[in-house]
Amino acid sequence: MNILGIESSCDETGVAIVSFNGDEAPRLLGQALHSQVQMHEAYGGVVPELASRDHVRRVLPLAQAALAESELGLQDIHLIAFTRGPGLAGALLVGAGVACGLAAALSRPTLGVHHLEGHLLSPFLSADPPRFPFVALLVSGGHTQLMRVDGVGRYELLGETIDDAAGEAFDKSAKLLGLGYPGGPALARLAEAGRPDAFELPRPLLHQPNLDFSFAGLKTAVMTTLRRLGPDPTDQQRADLAASTQAAIVEVLVRKSMRALRDSGLRRLVVAGGVGANAWLRRDLGEACARRGVQVHYPELALCTDNGAMIALAAAMRCQAGVASLSHDHRFAVRPRWNLAEVGQA
Ligand code: KG4
Ligand code: ZN
Repeated sequence: MNILGIESSCDETGVAIVSFNGDEAPRLLGQALHSQVQMHEAYGGVVPELASRDHVRRVLPLAQAALAESELGLQDIHLIAFTRGPGLAGALLVGAGVACGLAAALSRPTLGVHHLEGHLLSPFLSADPPRFPFVALLVSGGHTQLMRVDGVGRYELLGETIDDAAGEAFDKSAKLLGLGYPGGPALARLAEAGRPDAFELPRPLLHQPNLDFSFAGLKTAVMTTLRRLGPDPTDQQRADLAASTQAAIVEVLVRKSMRALRDSGLRRLVVAGGVGANAWLRRDLGEACARRGVQVHYPELALCTDNGAMIALAAAMRCQAGVASLSHDHRFAVRPRWNLAEVGQA
């Protein structure tokens, strides 16, 4: 079975083809991706209307490229999957509209996929895929969640951020430091030259027994620190502040993940979403997991940020698990706000 997946929830247009036979692990046959980062850079963040229009321009050429890499034609596609939500409504509508249009033309069914389910299952395309059950740390620009995952569609929320997401904390702190968008990778680069203990920044909720996060206070602390340093901080001070900010975010993510593993008694951790690409997070999680005999799994680096492969894969795994509710009528609706725990097995 060949599945074409379309991702268009935010500022990346991704199309990919994933294939599987029976119970065999799904394989990625081809993929194409366009990031709008450069287009939004001038505005310091994603402009929703520009994002939608760019998805319109990109999605069909990307689909052609993904098909060419897969050495398949449209007639070889059996199912069209798209990101139904969460995300920007206009951006989601582009992917949903194209998916349902293609499906109508080809007389094929569609499947609307939850964006975070895509992230969560993306390590199954890696050379070292996880096995169920596991704890998942989902860290993206819009979400920070710890979930217990017992199988496809069996997701229990253990804790989440009560304000900003981890990616947002990176992005907002980076903006205060005068770095470009997206801030995560830029802040991480600046932090390489800094000392992580140079500034004492808050680690909110770290000592609370729950698994929730709060990052809004960190942004305020970065702002007040910068104010204290005056209008012209030195390069070293900026690098020190970047390193201290990254250290605060990473410490909270690592400690809460370890607590989730301890509380649930599970010995496998899956890390997914854009912040999962962060090198310090990977190093510290690696050390903490090794100490506790926990296996940690990541998607391939190229699949950490948004892409079409994770959407096609989630559709494939839903089909294999017998929990894919396919639509045959080509009417579509998107869910800009949508909780992963609600997705269930429907
Ligand atoms: O999952 P993703 O591509 O998009 C969303 O669904 O949100 O995540 C994007 C987020 C952004 O906040 C970006 O700054 C952050 O992931 N990010 C990073 C790194 N690469 C991307 N944060 C820290 N370090 C990185 N290397
Ligand atoms: Zn994402």
